[in-house]
Amino acid sequence: MDRPVALITGGASGIGRAVCRALAARDHLVVVADIDEAGAHAVAEEVGGYAFALDVTDFAANQAAVAFAVERGGRLDHVFLNAGIATGTGLGDGFDLVSYRRAMAINIDGVIFGLQAALPALKAAKGSAVATASLAGLTAVPMDPFYAANKHAVVGLVRSAGPALAPDGVRVNAICPGFTESAIIAPIRDALTAGGVPIIATDVVAEAVVTLLEGDTVGECWFVQNGRPPAPFAFRNIPGPRPLAEE
Ligand code: NAI
Repeated sequence: MDRPVALITGGASGIGRAVCRALAARDHLVVVADIDEAGAHAVAEEVGGYAFALDVTDFAANQAAVAFAVERGGRLDHVFLNAGIATGTGLGDGFDLVSYRRAMAINIDGVIFGLQAALPALKAAKGSAVATASLAGLTAVPMDPFYAANKHAVVGLVRSAGPALAPDGVRVNAICPGFTESAIIAPIRDALTAGGVPIIATDVVAEAVVTLLEGDTVGECWFVQNGRPPAPFAFRNIPGPRPLAEE
């Protein structure tokens, strides 16, 4: 087979960069897509891949990133839909509409746009996508309700898109890490360490992402917690309807 080709959004730093490194080590041709163009170039140079300046909130730009990957690699096997930000605003007096829209645009629109743009190439390659959700997609997050909302949306998307796209030979799954060593936790890092919260190494998350990209699972949301093997989160079924009482 030709060398596998992977497109990683948010690949310039943190978890995305670790996945670029892990996939390159497995002989993938890696396309590092990020709004941080200089950072994307640095990672691309390190892993022997290509950089693409991408704002995931722009649907046409996602299509251009996929076209670039296919043009450079001849195919597209894996997409890691990972770009994301903390919100920086919340409910109540501090509510800021611009910050809210930006967070939703990156964290949920960006994942949907990336998946939609990649679908034709993934179908052709019988490939797979992993989206970065978070433990915040599985539990309540009082310190950032909008982050919880968009990460829950990623979880709902993946659980539904998984079975929807499986007949086309495309697998979609999500990764749900706990606090992981990256720039996103910088504002709360001291508080986390003071509170004894362990911070996960990006390599550990990357290994789980590679497992999902290369495995055979569909529509699963794998948690990553310090000291535990990554595994699919077990969702409870909703209560079934009761039969109507007879008149
Ligand atoms: P990070 O800040 O190191 O990486 C995020 C990357 O996304 C950066 O390179 C940034 O330039 C890029 N990005 C931001 N906006 C973009 C846009 N509009 N278009 C393209 N790229 C854009 O942080 P980290 O932690 O590596 O974040 C990756 C993902 O992991 C995010 O979706 C985040 O929500 C998620 N996550 C992070 C956790 C953590 O504790 N670090 C825990 C759970 C999930």
